Amino acid sequence: MTIPTTRRQFLQAVGVSGGAGVLYGTMGALGLAPAAQAAPPFRAPDRSDFTLTGRSARSVVVLGAGIAGLATAYELGKAGYRVQILEARTRPGGRNWTVRAGTTETDLDGQTQRARFNGGQYLNAGPARIAQHMVTLDYCRELGVPIEIFGNQNADAYYVNENAGALSGQPIRHREAKADVYGYVSELLAKATDQGALDGHLTGEDKERLLEFLRGFGAIGGRVAGDPAASWKYTGTNRRGYEVEPGAGFEAGTPKLTPYPLEDVLASGVGRYISFEFGYDQAMLMFQPVGGMDRIAYALEEAVGRRFVTYGAEVRSISNTGSGVTVVYDGPGGRPRTVTADFCVCTIPPQVLAKIPSNLTQPVRDALAFPVPNATGKIGLQYRRRWWEQDENIYSGITNTNLDLATIWYPSYGYHGTKGLVVGYYNFGANAQSYAALTHAEREARAVAQGVKIHGEKYRTELETSFSVAWERTRYSEGGWVSWPSRTSGGHYGRLLEPDDRVYFAGDHLSHYIAWQAGAFESARKVVTDLHARVMSC
Ligand code: FAD
Ligand code: ALA
Repeated sequence: MTIPTTRRQFLQAVGVSGGAGVLYGTMGALGLAPAAQAAPPFRAPDRSDFTLTGRSARSVVVLGAGIAGLATAYELGKAGYRVQILEARTRPGGRNWTVRAGTTETDLDGQTQRARFNGGQYLNAGPARIAQHMVTLDYCRELGVPIEIFGNQNADAYYVNENAGALSGQPIRHREAKADVYGYVSELLAKATDQGALDGHLTGEDKERLLEFLRGFGAIGGRVAGDPAASWKYTGTNRRGYEVEPGAGFEAGTPKLTPYPLEDVLASGVGRYISFEFGYDQAMLMFQPVGGMDRIAYALEEAVGRRFVTYGAEVRSISNTGSGVTVVYDGPGGRPRTVTADFCVCTIPPQVLAKIPSNLTQPVRDALAFPVPNATGKIGLQYRRRWWEQDENIYSGITNTNLDLATIWYPSYGYHGTKGLVVGYYNFGANAQSYAALTHAEREARAVAQGVKIHGEKYRTELETSFSVAWERTRYSEGGWVSWPSRTSGGHYGRLLEPDDRVYFAGDHLSHYIAWQAGAFESARKVVTDLHARVMSC
């Protein structure tokens, strides 16, 4: 890359590599344009916006009763917009889907499943966890949806990797793996520090401070005068757990002190899972609605008003007419029905919308074809006994593996109950595709065969019933979420942020929180703000 020599060349260079947003921000920094401002806090449209200005509320047809569609209708409804939602499914929520006793689903391959879970047991087939900073929790508060803690990390859950050296296939408790990884990393860094390898970076005082930190962080020994090899040793810690629990009287317990050898820990690859809990969107504490994630969807439906949602209404065509929008959908008995409205907010996933006839412009159609749907799947396994609590002291949390099931989730509800529901796989990409290609019975058999390796035969013998979901084979979704190959190239992403005449687009795919309900909520808020500003300016 050549170094730009003029300010203009510099602006062009960042414009090319970083897109219009970076270009604009850089111009701001150079005093050529206002610096990019953080979006102002969302303000819902209000009835007074119309009454005080003598305007009348407009009609809006919303396509899709997922989180984005419901939130759009809910926020517009606050100002008195005449809103109608058309939803192809017979329930609210879209990908926000909780599978319970009686839930029936026929997938794109024509396979039908009926959930035979007991009352109180459920599978959050789509979203399952919410971070504290997400707007999703604000809606839970506003709508009165009770929440409870979701166990996203658990020191007593396992890491299991196959083809990974001496520890291959061995379930290792998260706490053991963490203690050994932190311990060895601390020992090595302390040795390097004390033996002068970092003298170019640290003052003597800073070295001592770092060593003090590492002693606590890794539970390592101290400096042994004259013996660098024996200094800062990690020799294990009771952080790893106990063979015999501490008890009454003289029972001090027998800690599992002996660490796995360093080379085995490295070969096992367990360290790669530890940083998951550092993620901004995955760090504890996390939350879930009490009773299932769909409590949010049903609360939104109630707030919008059930009569304003038409279920079983598969949209067949969308047309801008110049003065409004006409939508044709399947009415009862498959007979076509037509709705006209001043505006349309379309929240149908792009890979589904791209196949619906419309007179949307070619750039919009190109944009809809650009994002790539991701494969993901889950299976809910109902057990007659909560063996993970009773036998293994695991109360919620996730086991991470390099098996094709990827993860096993233990329920964050119903503790100490009679039965319980484990998520037997939640996987992505090629693993998800390989399960999606199987029948439901085959998926169950494969997931159980993998799980037996971790939890033993009870994983098979105590199983009562299951329900599996392959999102790319699920009608009206055809994927778990999408990835944008680029958000700048061709302007496809930006094109969908703008309306096509009177049709607006919303959904998690139009946010930087893809694969999170927060993205659907934030996108809905943006579209509501844009549409209301347009109505108020006419
Ligand atoms: P959707 O929910 O897809 O809504 C679109 C709606 O359009 C649907 O109701 C659909 O039925 C309807 N529709 C489609 N075609 C038509 C048609 N022709 N006519 C009429 N209606 C139609 N989020 C979290 O917050 N936490 C998580 O832990 C989390 N985990 C996830 C795990 C999985 C496996 C998946 C799949 C998603 C997860 N998400 C999670 C993401 C979350 O589910 C989505 O971000 C959010 O639900 C998207 O909402 P939406 O309204 O944008 O889209
Ligand atoms: N947001 C989704 C999850 O946390 C992908 O599982």
